[in-house]
Amino acid sequence: MSPRQERAAIEFGTVNEKNLVQLQRLNTALFPVKYNDKFYQEAIRAPDGFVRLAYFQTILVGAVMVRFESNANGSSRLYIMTLGVLAPYRERGIGAQLLDHVFELLASHPLCSNVSEIALHVHTENTEAIAFYKNRGFEVVELIEKYYKRGVDPPDCYLLSKKVEPRGNGS
Ligand SMILES: CC(C)(COP(=O)(O)OP(=O)(O)OC[C@H]1O[C@@H](n2cnc3c(N)ncnc32)[C@H](O)[C@@H]1OP(=O)(O)O)[C@@H](O)C(=O)NCCC(=O)NCCS
Repeated sequence: MSPRQERAAIEFGTVNEKNLVQLQRLNTALFPVKYNDKFYQEAIRAPDGFVRLAYFQTILVGAVMVRFESNANGSSRLYIMTLGVLAPYRERGIGAQLLDHVFELLASHPLCSNVSEIALHVHTENTEAIAFYKNRGFEVVELIEKYYKRGVDPPDCYLLSKKVEPRGNGS
């Protein structure tokens, strides 16, 4: 087992028109799917805190982007669209800090008071990410075949989910 490295001290940043291209480059390096302009415009307009950039010594090394989704039955979930850390900066606690930010949104953001689930899709071969989420209370709830349209082999993913207790409108 490799020696435990010092937990990286990161600073969080927000996304804007000026640094949007940096987020695009980061995601291109991290994910097999290419996100379109609509995705990045959604990033700019996202509610406060729903997109967080992670800087290590002024270098953009990771980011998280979530979306609020409400169901017809009145329940709602937070969907993690992207959460990633550049490979040289992994295993230093940065991914965990990004996920902790999502948990903090759940605990305090006004939009999240009725959220009962956090969900995301992960490529079936992405054992690192699957282990990362399982270690933090997520479960595989579905195998979705042919989820990816192109460039990903196999094109299948898992839907991962973590149930959470809605905190209600009182807080
Ligand atoms: C999944 C992912 C985000 C994890 O990021 P990360 O920065 O490596 O995450 P962490 O460092 O917080 O945790 C990863 C492991 O490193 C270990 N680790 C954390 N801090 C450490 C330290 N200081 N020293 C040594 N190991 C450490 C942890 O034990 C953790 O393993 P665990 O799950 O057993 O706790 C990263 O692998 C990634 O970006 N993958 C590509 C993008 C992707 O597929 N995202 C998922 C779909 S959205």
